[in-house]
Amino acid sequence: MTSIRTIPTEPIEGQKPGTSGLRKKTEVFQTHHYLENFIQSIWNGIGGVEGKTLVLGGDGRHFNSQAAQVVLRMAAASGAKKVIVGKRALLSTPAASNLIRKRGADGGIILSASHNPGGPKGDFGVKFNAANGGPAAEGITGKIFDATKEIAEFHIAESQDIGLRMTDTVMLGEMEIEIVDPVDDYAELMAELFDFDAIRALFKSGFRMRFDAMHAVTGPYATRVLEETLGASPGTVFNAIPLPDFGEGHPDPNPTWAKQLWDEMMSDSGPDFGAASDGDGDRNMVVGRHCYVSPSDSLAVLAANATLVPGYKDGLKGVARSMPTSQAVDRVAEKLGIDCYETPTGWKFFGNLLDAGRATLCGEESFGTGSDHVREKDGLWAVLFWLNILAVKKCSVAELMESHWAAYGRNYYSRHDYEAVDSDAAAGVMEHVRSQLTTLPGTSFGSLTVAAADEFAYDDPVDGSRAEGQGLRVLFEGGGRLVLRLSGTGTEGATLRVYLEKVETDPAAFGLDPQEALAEVIAAAETIAEITSRTGRDAPDVIT
Ligand code: G6P
Ligand code: ZN
Repeated sequence: MTSIRTIPTEPIEGQKPGTSGLRKKTEVFQTHHYLENFIQSIWNGIGGVEGKTLVLGGDGRHFNSQAAQVVLRMAAASGAKKVIVGKRALLSTPAASNLIRKRGADGGIILSASHNPGGPKGDFGVKFNAANGGPAAEGITGKIFDATKEIAEFHIAESQDIGLRMTDTVMLGEMEIEIVDPVDDYAELMAELFDFDAIRALFKSGFRMRFDAMHAVTGPYATRVLEETLGASPGTVFNAIPLPDFGEGHPDPNPTWAKQLWDEMMSDSGPDFGAASDGDGDRNMVVGRHCYVSPSDSLAVLAANATLVPGYKDGLKGVARSMPTSQAVDRVAEKLGIDCYETPTGWKFFGNLLDAGRATLCGEESFGTGSDHVREKDGLWAVLFWLNILAVKKCSVAELMESHWAAYGRNYYSRHDYEAVDSDAAAGVMEHVRSQLTTLPGTSFGSLTVAAADEFAYDDPVDGSRAEGQGLRVLFEGGGRLVLRLSGTGTEGATLRVYLEKVETDPAAFGLDPQEALAEVIAAAETIAEITSRTGRDAPDVIT
């Protein structure tokens, strides 16, 4: 008999799930009852776990294994029927989403702070995904947050740590624990969607690739699929072993943090194709030799070429992008005659569109791309999609981008991030811009004239719910935009994100550096938002 303890506790402040679950410093999660309170609040917020089947896994960061043991004991204590857990408590976010769907589970717990650094001084996170495999919608996260404010006790089974090193099925009290290989089901799904023979032939022809797994969870997935299955040469995947502190790195696939990959790709003798993925495997960056592909452009290219890929050969039902993502994909949707939805930042907003069959492909400027194959963005999936297109088109990344822009025009795009800014100063920037929304239209900044300005709100066309306060938009005549919002994923102060976009239709001007092409929008942002004087920062910390 496993005994179950009921432990009295008190609400802990600040357990409000953000853009993507609850994310805090690891040491905060390790404080007395912090994790237990939140897990119990998830159970309470979703109406209990009695008789339910859950999926569990994480990105392998510091505290992943210990937290997984707590989740198992608490699931057993509250009467869960079964937990399917990845070996060593590992599962990438898209693989977890796939498992929830494939096994018909009632939901899942993903232990990850995504692209935030890990380790004792880094970040940790917990996310609940629903039965559709996607991040819990606002209605559910709201109930979980309410539960954190009312909690008075939690339940936990007394047991030794469960061995998670081998695939196996074991019992914890009445609850079954199935330990699965974290890669198998995911790799199978990828083989169904993509033309593996064509990609194999591409590698055979001498095509060279580098994949930076950033010492995060995608290492085992990328090694299995790219090297062992598709025949990419050994060493294609580097930083392939997941480490608890990501090798002291910052597992965010962008030009700043994937610096080694970036340098290789910008060299004349570099490989043909480069890619990287983040802590939990849902983000991706793709880059050709001397050719960076912005995530917004990547979404547009995937949409434009989708029918070349077996899983999407019948065409797309629609596409969706988050509001700050560039409008490049809108142009493709227009040509294809399909709907294009604009949602708030956060993958959870795509869930209803995917479930309702209104969108097939979705993407965000924050290096997220995905489709209705799961209910999360999917890093390695995006990379395979690119490989499949390149294998069919037999051209370089740069050639593909050139022909794309020639057909659709180019949406120059960049995001400027000001990180760990004083929270009041960041709020001041937003308030200052908000106060100008009614007066900006008609005002000119150099050759730019403001056509409209507003604070973005989203009415979900499927369930009718409304999300307000989703970012400030200044829309220029001709399609350019300036967007400002505060990040919902940071753990220190505030992160101010400034999104800049300009539409270019003159082919002679397709080859500029985006920072140059966007100079006027950048200058307008400074005038309108007074970022330097209000935050004391004279340059962004990260430019993507
Ligand atoms: C996570 C979410 C994304 C979101 C991103 C940026 O990765 O899954 O959907 O776009 O965070 O969020 P932020 O609030 O930091 O801009
Ligand atoms: Zn992530």
